[in-house]
Amino acid sequence: MFLTHLSCTSCGLHHDWTKLQNLCTACRKPLLAVYDLEQAGRALRQEELSTRAEKSLWRYRELLPVPIETAPVSLSEGGTPLLRAGTLGASLHMQDLRVKDESQNPTQSFKARGMSVAVSMAKHLGATKLAVPSAGNAGSALSAYAARAGLEAYIFMPYDTPQLNVIECCELGARVQLIDGLITDCAAEIARRKTQEEWFEMSTLKEPYRLEGKKTLGYELAEQLGWWLPDVILYPTGGGTGLIGMWKAFEEMEALDWIDGKRPRMYSVQASGCAPIVRAFEAGADHAVEFPNAQTRASGLRVPKAIGDFLMLRILRESGGGAIAIDDDEMIRVTREVGGAEGLFIAPEGAACFAALRSLIDSGTIKLDEQVVVFNTGSGIKYLECYE
Ligand SMILES: Cc1ncc(COP(=O)(O)O)c(C=O)c1O
Ligand SMILES: [Zn+2]
Repeated sequence: MFLTHLSCTSCGLHHDWTKLQNLCTACRKPLLAVYDLEQAGRALRQEELSTRAEKSLWRYRELLPVPIETAPVSLSEGGTPLLRAGTLGASLHMQDLRVKDESQNPTQSFKARGMSVAVSMAKHLGATKLAVPSAGNAGSALSAYAARAGLEAYIFMPYDTPQLNVIECCELGARVQLIDGLITDCAAEIARRKTQEEWFEMSTLKEPYRLEGKKTLGYELAEQLGWWLPDVILYPTGGGTGLIGMWKAFEEMEALDWIDGKRPRMYSVQASGCAPIVRAFEAGADHAVEFPNAQTRASGLRVPKAIGDFLMLRILRESGGGAIAIDDDEMIRVTREVGGAEGLFIAPEGAACFAALRSLIDSGTIKLDEQVVVFNTGSGIKYLECYE
């Protein structure tokens, strides 16, 4: 394994990966996994990947944590298709529009990637009880991977989480508690009880390895495009791990000499009823203020305050991209448009990105000859309440 240590995203302090870690012990900011990329690049040659039989995200094993003698906790996550959206692209007069369809993961969302890696490491380092605040999909994914690992899962979700996620967590053997509040209130409840209950906290960016799973989105995208990155990426952001993880992958791949320095313009897509990153981006701020009265049916986007806000804002600016908010009604309308055109029943979070695409084309921000990748992070199947 080529993981060397964990490094703080804010103060740079090094932490030992051989112990269970949450936030930086000095400044309480997120930790990032650091690898010896020179050695990793010698062990895994770019050309070798095309002959590798492993289709799951563990095909990038040399660039992931988990010692080589330890079997990862896997349900065959990742390896999702990058589909051409020809009909929709043509209707928008675009030359090259693609969808990375993450609904084809275990438990039907991209959250499976993060949980496979994070649960693997938590188990390896001796955790037995895993707790997470969730908007729905992260809870489903943790429930599945904890069950697979033989560990206990404790899921805290808002009362109005999609019913199917709640049922799924229960049927996967997790202990579920519904909270009268938002995901931030769920996180506060875990923080209050975790020491006494001996829970290891698996919240977004509050442990270092969910991000490692998410970063494989970036590796896969580059590999699927022939070691090339698109001009534009549209990503639905709540806590921001997808965006931050992909950016980390791009930096690692450049250090490995697998890609050049070209980066996509990254756009964070949020809901009008909960758009802290959009507000902060427009205000030119480094951090986001908590969004008051957060409301949206795209439950994954109902994150009024994210611990990785400063990382997201930095990436959006560095990439030359931006942030855009979409109304719920528009997301639901676009769901049927994409469904009818492409045969994909996408999650409202993914629909928000398609709606954002149209708006960014109309404003001239995205050009018709640019290569654009939209991330559909989940499945519409989980959100039946939205279509009644
Ligand atoms: C379907 C879906 N898309 C996007 C998101 C936002 O992901 P992140 O919190 O990593 O930004 C979530 C989070 O719950 C989600 O479930
Ligand atoms: Zn720190």
